[in-house]
Amino acid sequence: MDNSLKLFNDIVSKLLADEKQNPVAEFVSSDELFDKLDLNLSDQPIDEERFKNAVQDLVLKTPRTATNAFFNQLFGGRNGKAVLGDLLAVMLNNSMYTYKAAGPQVGIEKAIISEVCKMIGWGEKSGGTFASGGSMTNFMSLLLARDSYDATIVDNGMMHLELMVYTSVESHYSIEKNAAFCGIGRDNVRKINTDDLGRIDINELKEKITEDIQFGKKPVLVNLTAGTTVLGAFDPIEEIAIFCKEHNIWLHLDGAYCGSVLFSKKYKHLIKGVELVDSFSFNAHKMIGTPLTCSLIMVKDNKFLFDSFSSEATYLYQTDRDEFNLGKTSLQCGRRNDALKFWTLWKSVGTIGLETIVDKQFELADFARDYIKNNEDYTSYGIEDSISICFNYKGIPAQQLCTQLYQESQLLVGYGSFQENEFVRLVTINAQNDKDDILKFFKTIEQFVEAHMKQAIATAEV
Ligand SMILES: Cc1ncc(COP(=O)(O)O)c(C=O)c1O
Repeated sequence: MDNSLKLFNDIVSKLLADEKQNPVAEFVSSDELFDKLDLNLSDQPIDEERFKNAVQDLVLKTPRTATNAFFNQLFGGRNGKAVLGDLLAVMLNNSMYTYKAAGPQVGIEKAIISEVCKMIGWGEKSGGTFASGGSMTNFMSLLLARDSYDATIVDNGMMHLELMVYTSVESHYSIEKNAAFCGIGRDNVRKINTDDLGRIDINELKEKITEDIQFGKKPVLVNLTAGTTVLGAFDPIEEIAIFCKEHNIWLHLDGAYCGSVLFSKKYKHLIKGVELVDSFSFNAHKMIGTPLTCSLIMVKDNKFLFDSFSSEATYLYQTDRDEFNLGKTSLQCGRRNDALKFWTLWKSVGTIGLETIVDKQFELADFARDYIKNNEDYTSYGIEDSISICFNYKGIPAQQLCTQLYQESQLLVGYGSFQENEFVRLVTINAQNDKDDILKFFKTIEQFVEAHMKQAIATAEV
C-alpha cells in the first residue's frame, strides 16, 4: 500500500504542476488512442517502471476538468476538502447498505439528508438517499410516483395500466429513458412546450393532463426542472404543485444541475415552492463542486422510499433498525460512500461556505453576460438568472467553433440549442474560477478565431 500511495502522490504532483502550464490536456483522437497510450492488457505482469509510465501517461493525457479551461459540462473545478473526503471514502471502502458495514458513515449520510430536508422546509417524516447520478435520482422519482399511485404495482406489474408522465421539452433526456426502464414507455411521456425563457408552459401542462384523464389515462408524475440542461431555466413550482395535489399526481423537482440554489439566500427564490413538491433531487457534484458523483434525492415522506425500495434479505440485514440500514431506501445493494466528500466540504466551510460557492457562479455568469452584451461580435441566446451563458461569436457555427477549440487543445466548451438556434454554452459552474478566467475564456476564443478561423467568419457573413 505504501508504494501505491507514494506513486499516487508522485503522479498527482506531476498532474497538478502540468495543469498549471497546460490547462487543456494534449488532444488524443479516438482513432489513435490505442496507438498513443499503453492501454492494452496482457497475461503477464509488467515491471514497476513500465507500470508507472503507463499510469502517468494515462493521467496526463486525460481531459482536465479542474482547470480554468474546462467549461464543457455541468461540473468542474477541484475542491481540496471534498477531494479529501472522496479519497478517504476509497481508503475506507465501506458499502452504505448497512450500519454494520458502514457504521458512522451512515451518520454522515443521515446528517446531510436531514439538514437538506430542513432547508427545504420539510418536517420529521421527510428523508432521502444518495444515488449514482441525477439520471438515477430521476429514475427513483419515477418509481416513487408510480408506486405511490398504485402500491400493488411492485408485486403485480402494470400491464393493465396506462400511466403518463409530464415534463418539459427542455428537461433532461433521462426522463424518457427512465420511462422506458420502468415499463411506462417513452411514448407515454408528454413533452410540454416551454415559454421563450425555457420554462414549462403551465397552461399546456394542465390541458394535457386534463385531456388524458378524460381519455382514461393515469397521470402519475410531473417532472419539473431546476436548471434545464441547456439554458439553465427554472420551471415554476407553486401553481403546478397545487394542480398536482388536486389530481393526486407525484411532483418531482429535478435540480440535478441547479437545485443547489437551495443553499443561497439570494437565489433560493428560483425554486420558490420547493417545499410543496413530493421529491427533490440535486447533484452536489455540479454546483457544489464535489467530485463526481454526489447525487441526492429527498422525499417529503420517507415512507415512500421504503415502500418502493426496501426488500428483505436475511443475509444482509442482520443488525440495527431499518432507519440505519440505508439499503432499505436505496436503488442499489452495494453502494459507494458518496456522502463523505460532501460532508468534509460542508463541515469545513459551513452552510455559508456552500452559499458562497453557489453565489460565485451567478456572479461569474453575470460578468460573462455583461461581456457579451457589451461586445457586438457576440449574439446572446441565454436568459438572466442562469449560470449557462449561451452565445455565438461572429456568426460562426457553434459546433465548428467548439470542435476546433477542442481539437487544438484550447478550451473545452460545448454547444446546445433552444428553439431554432444553436449556440456555444459557457457554464460558470467552477466557483474556483475568477472573472479573469472568464475574460481569458473569451479572449482565447477571439484570438483563436482571428488566427485560425477567418474562413469560417467569411462563410458566416455570406
Ligand atoms: C437537469 C438535469 N437532470 C439530470 C441530469 C443527469 O445527471 P447525471 O449526469 O448525474 O446522471 C442532468 C445532467 O446534466 C441535468 O442537467
